[in-house]
Parts: sequence; structure tokens; C-alpha cells
Amino acid sequence: MSTSIFFEHLVQEDRVHRSIYTDPLIFELEMTHIFGGVWCYLAHESQLPRPDDYLTGKLGLRPIIVVRDSSGKLRALFNRCTHRGARVCRETRGSARTFQCPYHGWTYFNTGKLRGVPWPEGYACDFAEGKYNLAQVPRVESYRGFIFGTLNADAPPLGDYLGAAKRPIDEWLDRNPGSRVVVAEANRLKFKGNWKLAYDNAADGYHVVFSHRSLLETENRHAADPTKGMSFYMGKPDEAPMYVQYFGRGHHFKDKRPNVERRPGALWEIEGAQPGMAAYEKLIRERLGARALRALDLAASEPVNINIFPNLSILGNHIQVFQPLAVDETESVWYATAIVDEANELEGMADAVNAIRMRTQESFPNFGEVDDAANFEEIQKGLAACEDEWVYMHRGLGIPGRVQRLADGTLKAPATDEVFMREHMKEWQRLMTTRPNIQLSR
Ligand code: FES
Ligand SMILES: [Fe+2]
Repeated sequence: MSTSIFFEHLVQEDRVHRSIYTDPLIFELEMTHIFGGVWCYLAHESQLPRPDDYLTGKLGLRPIIVVRDSSGKLRALFNRCTHRGARVCRETRGSARTFQCPYHGWTYFNTGKLRGVPWPEGYACDFAEGKYNLAQVPRVESYRGFIFGTLNADAPPLGDYLGAAKRPIDEWLDRNPGSRVVVAEANRLKFKGNWKLAYDNAADGYHVVFSHRSLLETENRHAADPTKGMSFYMGKPDEAPMYVQYFGRGHHFKDKRPNVERRPGALWEIEGAQPGMAAYEKLIRERLGARALRALDLAASEPVNINIFPNLSILGNHIQVFQPLAVDETESVWYATAIVDEANELEGMADAVNAIRMRTQESFPNFGEVDDAANFEEIQKGLAACEDEWVYMHRGLGIPGRVQRLADGTLKAPATDEVFMREHMKEWQRLMTTRPNIQLSR
């Protein structure tokens, strides 16, 4: 069977084959075709504010050092010594002009260029030859602070790759003072399941009231009417004004903003009570008067999920990253974000907003993500039933008028529709049958 017929069999109109979540060979191919083929999210610029700042991470399974080199240029170096292959940098983050491999002491500038080796008289070669420099991701670009990299020389420019997803990213940033955020620390979780289970779930409006029932109850425990948090999913979510949109290239969007009235303070009103909020709210209201509501809305969770294939989700006030570790193991990191108020638009209240924001951002990773991760692990366990081959994602398929194609070519559907999943699976299939033009630079 040719690979394209093979993958056509695995991804069908209404269902996908279990092996795309369980087969180690398919996982290995994904590391080349998906994580080597498209722009992957690497880091946020606020994590590397100064020249020489770096952090270590992964591009697929490739260990990398994302660094702002001494001249200020963003790079993604392979964290893999050219000598015998050891990881050169073992720290999670820091500031360094050079990296010295702990094994035999080869040293590299933070541009990736080899600086020197111990006792070079023992070598006959010319170390000025580029082949001894660290390999690096040839294309690293950022979009409004979000740093992406791709190994694929044929990938479109980053702006084209993001396409229609740029609009909600812009809106997510522009609501903040100075139109920006900085990354604070992270909740780090791992689950025993395939990475795509998290991506499939990222715009899933079907599971919310069932999977997150205890969270919904917690958010509403002090409320006279149960309208806090995600309670707009109760009743019939498909009749609510929220919607799901598919942008192309695997990216999708769950827009819950239409559920919330468009007036200052409406978002804050649906935020569930959290310990410690009241004192900061009082302070902000006393200082800012009528303008307090805008500040409090910035502390509340922004009701969007912007999912950038294959490894990024911008949701609430978080930047979530999906990191595959193995066919059945994934790391899910939720970076909190803080506002920065250089122009003092909030009259000294930015710290108070960030204090509440920290609380609101603790909520979902601790009380919601665990529900989702439990589902991902249960799917992975369920899929061990190898004769029962198919996973269905056909909710909404074949119902006339349910999925609309908009003028810009994107697809829009009611909140619980699985069209976004069917579409990213088609893109996955296309990528798995297209050989990327992988080029390393040194
Ligand atoms: S493996 Fe790095 S110096 Fe030998
Ligand atoms: Fe969920």
C-alpha cells in the first residue's frame, strides 16, 4: 500500500483509525512530517527579554535551546553537541554568551558557532569549517511576541501560516494595556496519552458540562443563579451565541465571547469567587471608580480558545503548549500571563489586576485540565481494544446548513460541532503524505 492510500484509510470523512493515537511508527513519522513540517510554537519573547537570554525546550522530540543571541537575534539551536551528541545545555533557562558541553568541554557561542575545543592540537581537522557548529532551526520568526520555528524550507511565511488565526490573536493582545502580555510561571502537567487527544479537545464544546461538572459547581457555589464561569454550556450549547470556527492549516477557534454582554464588567461578573479576590477588587474599585470595570475584566478569564496547530493554544489568559513525549505520553504546560502597564493606564493598579489574574489562572489548570487529562488517559486505555478500530468525530456532519463556509473560506459551526476536528485531521493526513523539505543550518 502506498503511504497516501494508507493514510487515506486512517482518516475518513466521519472517523479516524485508532492507530493514529497508538502506533509508535506513526508517532515517529509525525516528528518529521508534522513537527518538522510546519511552524511550531517555541517560546514567548517575554521569556527572553535581553540578549543572551535562553531557555531549553523541544521541537517535536528534538532538544533545542531557544536563545536571543548576543546581537539580539532569536535562534533555536539544536541542544545536541556536534562532537558525540550530548545535550550541551542542561539548564531550563538562563543567560549565557557561550554554552560549554559538560562531556568533553567543546564550547559554542550563543549563535551556535563553535568557539573552541580543548587541546585542539590533537585534531587534524579545520574547526573553522561550519560542520562543527551546532545545528539550528533555519527559520525562526515571531508574531507579536509568539516565537515559532520551522525546519521546512518550503513552509509558507509565518504570517501566512497563521492566516485567519491572526485576528483573534490580535484581539487577545489588544485588550491589554500596551497591547501585550508577559509570560509568568507555568503549571506543568503530563498525561499518559497521545498529543492529538489534547489538540482534538482544544475546541470541543461537547464535553464541557459532562467532564467539567465539578468545576462548574465549584464556580457557582456562592452564586444565587448558576451563571458563573462556563455555565453558558448548560442547557443546549448549540443554541448559544458562541461558535467554533476552523481557520485552515489545522488552526481553530472557540469563541465564547458572544455569550457575554458587551459592556465593561460583564466578564468580571461571571468570574467565580476565588479566595483573596475581594480585597484586590475593593482596592481597584476605590482607586479607579467607573474605570475599575475595565481593569477587572482584564483579571477575568478571556472566553476564547485559539488553537494553533500543532502545539499551541491561547485560552483564557493562558498560553498552553502541547509537548509530545512518546506516542502515549504528552506534557501540557500552561503558562500564565501578566499584564504590563508601562503607560500607567490603570493608575498603579496593574499589580492588583495581576494578583487576581494569578488566582483566576490557577483555576482551570488545577480544576479543569485534570478532568481533560483524565479523559485523554481513558481514551488511550480504551484504544487498547485493538479490534474496535474507529474513533468517530462526525457530530454535525451531514446536517444541512449546520456548518457555514464564510466569505474568507473559514468554517463556522455551533459550539458542540466536531467539524474543526475533522478538518484538522484532513490537514494532518495531508502533512503525513507530504515530505517536508527539512534543511538545518549551522
Ligand atoms: S559530546 Fe560534547 S564535547 Fe564531547
Ligand atoms: Fe475540557
